[in-house]
Amino acid sequence: IGYTGAGRDEELSEILLNGLSSLEYRGYDSAGVAIANSTVSVYKSEGELSELERKLPPNTLEGFAGIGHTRWSTHGPPSDTNAHPHTGCDRRVAVVHNGIIENYEELRKELEANDHEFESETDTEVVPHLIEEAITQGSTPETAFRQAVHRLEGSYAVSAVVSGHDAVFATRNQSPLVLGIGDDGYFLASDVPAFLEYTDDVVYLEDGQYVSITRSGVEITDEQGTLVDMPVETVEWDAADAGKSGYDHYMLKEINEQPHALRECLRGRPRELEASIAIDELEGLKQPERVHFVSCGTSYHASRYGAKLFREQGIQTTTFLASEYDVDSIPIDEETLVVGVTQSGETADTLRALRAANSVGAETLAVTNVVGCSAARETDYVMYIRAGPEIGVAATKTFASQQVALAMLSRDLSGRCSSAFIEALRALPDQVQSILDTSHAAAVADEYVDADAYFFIGRGFDAPVALEGALKMKEITYKHAEGFPAGELKHGPLALVTERTPVFAMISGNSNIERMVGNVREVESRGAPVVAVTDVPGRIENHADHVLEIPETHGLFAPILANIQLQLVSYWVANRLGRSIDKPRNLAKSVTVE
Ligand code: G6P
Repeated sequence: IGYTGAGRDEELSEILLNGLSSLEYRGYDSAGVAIANSTVSVYKSEGELSELERKLPPNTLEGFAGIGHTRWSTHGPPSDTNAHPHTGCDRRVAVVHNGIIENYEELRKELEANDHEFESETDTEVVPHLIEEAITQGSTPETAFRQAVHRLEGSYAVSAVVSGHDAVFATRNQSPLVLGIGDDGYFLASDVPAFLEYTDDVVYLEDGQYVSITRSGVEITDEQGTLVDMPVETVEWDAADAGKSGYDHYMLKEINEQPHALRECLRGRPRELEASIAIDELEGLKQPERVHFVSCGTSYHASRYGAKLFREQGIQTTTFLASEYDVDSIPIDEETLVVGVTQSGETADTLRALRAANSVGAETLAVTNVVGCSAARETDYVMYIRAGPEIGVAATKTFASQQVALAMLSRDLSGRCSSAFIEALRALPDQVQSILDTSHAAAVADEYVDADAYFFIGRGFDAPVALEGALKMKEITYKHAEGFPAGELKHGPLALVTERTPVFAMISGNSNIERMVGNVREVESRGAPVVAVTDVPGRIENHADHVLEIPETHGLFAPILANIQLQLVSYWVANRLGRSIDKPRNLAKSVTVE
């Protein structure tokens, strides 16, 4: 985050810290701020933001302009020294950076040969030294910033302050950067929630653009230094959406927001009268020869579910982990639609895959939650899932919204839809609400909180949710969890099953019930506790220690409902274990490096 504003010096540190607290989901192993006055003061600390706050002087920090950062380490472990902002030798310049500077070793050697001394192990530290070097040689701070950035190779959103100047300079290349226009101040941040409580007027900056904010105005220029006029957009999210609203954790709040999120996702899209689904943003998109999904983490699981719905409509579809997508070894052409499913729209692996698809002439579509994100801007089409801001690192409501969005997309592309499908879609928000109102997932969590490991199984459409159930469990409880298509259990994982490894079995009207019951009996006979998540309790209760029931739905949607129960179980296990639920160790919500 960066800020400068007229007459609000005393608020500077408050604005920076509030901003960082809204951005902590992006990284939280260390944090820091730099305040520019006639000198630049830097405060930084390993650990969460609260550690930094403890280190700050008791009085409010006053200054012309400031920058702040929360870190998710790439180069150098979390430590006070590796935390941002970084400074040059004479501490006139302070810099924060997201991304990776690939040529930093070469630059560092060059600067060291020029008597620059380095303190940290980060790639970032070369930037303040480069700026300082240029200023020493006579450049103005703004030009020095530009000259320094010209030397960088890699991905970056980078921002700097210089002593004696009321400006924050910033630019981006393949890392997000947004500008907020307040009534009496300007903000720069990696994401809108950082300044949403002050303004909802934003400019989404583009790669290669430079911005400088001062108390008197904003200047956006292109690489050549020519002024550019960028549209100011109004964000629909409000600050309350991005707050905790009385919940102990964002994750629990976001789980509970799912009925609303799904209603938003469905708004205006299903057309009952024609029994069709039309996604306005996708006007002109024809049914492709083949579809490739590219995505990571939870979005990958949503893609696996979506791909099944696509195939069921006769559309040839393959899912790829974005980090493994290699257009040179996969059949891809102009008739291929490459769908990047990404909540944040900023995941570096997914963006790289989409760019590769663009480069070979395939059509590209982003299914995302964040208006103006990089994925949305770099693809031919974009479909918004409209889940509202998700702050908890473990994705919950965005997964449900992605599932519903992809279900609609499958019908929009195939042009075939039944009224039963639409009716079932429309019923989902209330059904999710009824699960939230009646679930006894917390009691199940209590019983198995000490388990050695957790397994999740499901067949067909339920299988991706088994994977997601396990991912959620390991992300926030730090306990071993694995998900499998149920049939695979006997081909290896069964060796791990004991009376201390509860097995969560998704059994829905659409999965092959008899075979699922068979798989459940396999684990039951090895003494494993069984928790059935099902809309057909009568078929499984004799073999299950617990049943987490879901309402009856169109067979294809049972996995959306089953997942809500699994989210709650993971949440309550993590809660009982006292974990850092919203900010699990080592993880970040939006991973902007490959
Ligand atoms: C990170 C997060 C995951 C998320 C994944 C993909 O790893 O910790 O929760 O699923 O990124 O994020 P995206 O924004 O592309 O959906």
